[in-house]
Amino acid sequence: MTELTDITGPGTPAEPVAFPQDRTCPYHPPTGYGPLRDGRSLSRVTLFDGREVWMVTGHATARALLADPRLSTDRTLPGFPVSTARFAAVRDRRVALLGVDDPVHQTQRRMMIPSFTLKRAAGLRPTIQRTVDGLLDAMIEKGPPAELVSAFALPVPSMVICGLLGVPYADHEFFEEQSRTLLRGPTAADSQGARERLEEYLGGLIDDKERQAEPGDGVLDDLVHQRLRTGELDRRDVVALAVILLVAGHETTANMISLGTYTLLRHPGRLAELRADPALLPAAVEELMRMLSIADGLLRLALEDIEIAGATIRAGEGVLFSTSLINRDESVFDDPDTLDFHRSTRHHVAFGFGIHQCLGQNLARAELEIALGTLLERLPGLRLAAPAEEIPFKPGDTIQGMLELPVTW
Ligand code: HEM
Repeated sequence: MTELTDITGPGTPAEPVAFPQDRTCPYHPPTGYGPLRDGRSLSRVTLFDGREVWMVTGHATARALLADPRLSTDRTLPGFPVSTARFAAVRDRRVALLGVDDPVHQTQRRMMIPSFTLKRAAGLRPTIQRTVDGLLDAMIEKGPPAELVSAFALPVPSMVICGLLGVPYADHEFFEEQSRTLLRGPTAADSQGARERLEEYLGGLIDDKERQAEPGDGVLDDLVHQRLRTGELDRRDVVALAVILLVAGHETTANMISLGTYTLLRHPGRLAELRADPALLPAAVEELMRMLSIADGLLRLALEDIEIAGATIRAGEGVLFSTSLINRDESVFDDPDTLDFHRSTRHHVAFGFGIHQCLGQNLARAELEIALGTLLERLPGLRLAAPAEEIPFKPGDTIQGMLELPVTW
C-alpha cells in the first residue's frame, strides 16, 4: 500500500491527474497538469492503462531521485511503467544506454563519451554551420513562404547526426519516417514494425562496415572496428546503440528548432532583444530548453522502497518525471512561466540528470545555437505565415514540437 498521508493536503486532487495530456499552448505544460503545480514535489498520476504511478514535479526531489540507483531504466523489467500503448509494444526490444542500468550502462556510456565531448561538438561547429547555410540558401532561393520543419528544422540535425555516425544521408526519408512512426505511430503494431525496420537497416549498415578493410570515420565505424571486431560488444549491442543514437540524435533537436523558432516568434520582445544582442544566444538556447522541456515524462521503476519528500515509494512502483513541471519549480526559477534570457538556467533538467543525462547535449547546444542564430540573422523579417493558433503541434504522448511551421520573411 502506498503511503500518501504526508504529501496529501488541502490542495490534493480527489482523482489522480491523467498523464500524458496534450499541451494547450505548445510551449507551456498542459493546463490539465494544474493540480500538479500546488507546491508538492510528488503526486500520483494515472496512465493510459489505468495504472497509478508517482509523478515527480519538484526540482530537489527530481535531482535526488534521478541520481538514485534504486530507480531502474531497464524497460524489460516486469512492472516497468509504460506511458503509451505504442511504448508497451516495443518494450521487449534491447535499448542501449537509456534502457540499461549500471554496470552495463557505465560500460556503454564510457565507450560513447569520447564522441560526444564539448571539444568534439566544438570541432563539429564548422560542419554544422555549412549545413545550416546550405539549407537556408535553398530555402531562401525557393521562398518565401516555407514550411520550416521540412525545409530546415528536421534536415539540420538529421544531416549532422548522419555525418557523425557514418549513416548515408541519402537514406534520410526512410529512417526519419521509421523514427516518426516509432515515436508516434498510429498503432502499437506500427511502432513495433518501425523499430524492427530500423534495426534491420542499421544492422545491414553495420555488416557493410564490418566487411570494409579500411574503416570510415563515423562513430558507427569506430564501434564496428574497435568494439565489435574485438568481441567487446556483440552485433545486437552495436545495432541497439546505432538505433538510439540515430533516433535521439535527430528527432529531439528537430523539435527544439521548430518549437524554439515558434516560441521566439510568439515573444517579439525577446526576439528583438536577441537580435539586438546575439551574445545572448547561448543563454536564450538554455532558457528555451528549460521553458519548452520537449522530453516530458522520463520513466523509471523503483527496485527498492525509497523514503523521500515525506512519502514512501514502494519497490515495484512506477516513477515518472515531468521535466516541464520540474523546470517550472518556483523555488528554483522565479516567475517560471516567463521567457527570460537573464535568469540562471544552470540547473534545468531538460536534458535529464544523473547517469542517463543526455549524451548528445553538447552537440544539441551547438546545433541549436547555430541553427537559431543563423536563421534570425539571415531572415530579419521572419514571421509566421499562418495564424499562430492554427499551426499544428505534437500531441502530449510524444516528444513535444511543431508538426508544421509555415513561415515567411
Ligand atoms: C535538444 C535536443 C535533446 C533533448 C531535449 C534531449 C533530451 C534527453 C533527455 C531528457 C535524456 C534523459 C532521458 C532519461 O533520463 O530518461 C536524454 C538522454 C539521451 N540522449 Fe538526448 N536530447 C537531445 C538531443 C540529443 C542528441 C543530439 C543526441 C545524439 C546522439 C542524444 C542522445 C541521447 C542519448 C544516447 C541518451 C541516453 C543517455 C544515457 O542513458 O546514458 N540526445 N536526452
